[in-house]
Amino acid sequence: MRVLVTGGLGFIGSHTALMLLQKGYEVIILDNLSNSNPAVLGRINSQTGNKALFVKGDILDVALLKEVFREHEIHGVIHFAALKSVKESIEKPERYHLNNVVGTERLIRICAEQGIGRFIFSSSAAVYGSAASPVTENSGIGEIPNPYGRSKASCEDLLKTTHFQYKKPDITILRYFNVAGAHPDGILWEEAQPDGGNLMSHIIRVASEKTGKLYIYGGDYDTPDGTGIRDYIHVMDVARGHVLALEKQKEGVHTYNLGSGRGTSVLELIQTFQEVNGVDIRYEITGRRIGDISVSYADSTRALDELGWRAELDICDIVRDSWSHSEGGVDMSK
Ligand SMILES: NC(=O)c1ccc[n+]([C@@H]2O[C@H](COP(=O)([O-])OP(=O)(O)OC[C@H]3O[C@@H](n4cnc5c(N)ncnc54)[C@H](O)[C@@H]3O)[C@@H](O)[C@H]2O)c1
Repeated sequence: MRVLVTGGLGFIGSHTALMLLQKGYEVIILDNLSNSNPAVLGRINSQTGNKALFVKGDILDVALLKEVFREHEIHGVIHFAALKSVKESIEKPERYHLNNVVGTERLIRICAEQGIGRFIFSSSAAVYGSAASPVTENSGIGEIPNPYGRSKASCEDLLKTTHFQYKKPDITILRYFNVAGAHPDGILWEEAQPDGGNLMSHIIRVASEKTGKLYIYGGDYDTPDGTGIRDYIHVMDVARGHVLALEKQKEGVHTYNLGSGRGTSVLELIQTFQEVNGVDIRYEITGRRIGDISVSYADSTRALDELGWRAELDICDIVRDSWSHSEGGVDMSK
């Protein structure tokens, strides 16, 4: 089976592309390199005799998309390509709408016209807004406090509309929670993010630099230690979720949470990172950020029942693998 992986040189896409190759799939990666390093392709292709083909390009480029589908018989599409910074999305909402929503609209339209059978979409726990945890897929899309989350909810809507209109492709929407970790063999990891990235990236930076401190936004939430609680999920588990979703895709549109089902507070994450990796993290608790919610974790029962998926790696695996690629501060991506 030949699979087009958009955003396949990014963090989750690269781990998934490698897993697909190792399972014998033919993989075409389409990525505009807006948030990835071209060297990742070599690292993916160094691991297996089965090599991914790379097309440098943008999902907004309809002519290019049509050419890719004309030149290759593609059976399934895994669509990771998107901008993902909540902070940047608040500053530049139009950019997020164009890249994420219009990009997805163009891609799914062509997939429908080409009669592509399977389509898997990267959605996010952000679509639940402040719904009470554990959230199930039926929790409903809540009031979403940022343009990034709204772009994911809009994409979900237009995927459903397209399927309703064309009856193709069959669509699996995967709503991931907080993805972290890295390939345990040290081949792939999350690149440093232009906006400083997520909490794990900040922890790694503070631990690597051995100077400065980590700012924790909010110590007065209604949680046991006052800091926000999130559901951290290892990138290898998320990649495996995509392979299962592709293999078990059913007719219609189906939505699954990919989360561990366990909530970890910011202080617990820092504590675990220090214990597992033997490093110190200096931190200071400061005011809450607008738009942050206190608790978010998943009920992933549906993914277990229908895909046979559950998170196999835990928070200790996540902090160990996240830290080990950085080798105590030497960013191997440089
Ligand atoms: N990382 C997380 O915790 C998380 C959580 C929930 C959902 N997601 C979603 O999962 C997907 C992958 O996330 P990631 O963490 O791997 O992000 P990432 O930024 O590492 O990867 C995205 C990739 O898409 C590419 N890209 C972006 N816009 C493109 C475009 N218009 N055309 C072609 N390529 C484009 C980037 O260059 C990058 O390589 C995204 O859709 C993201 O919104 C991520």
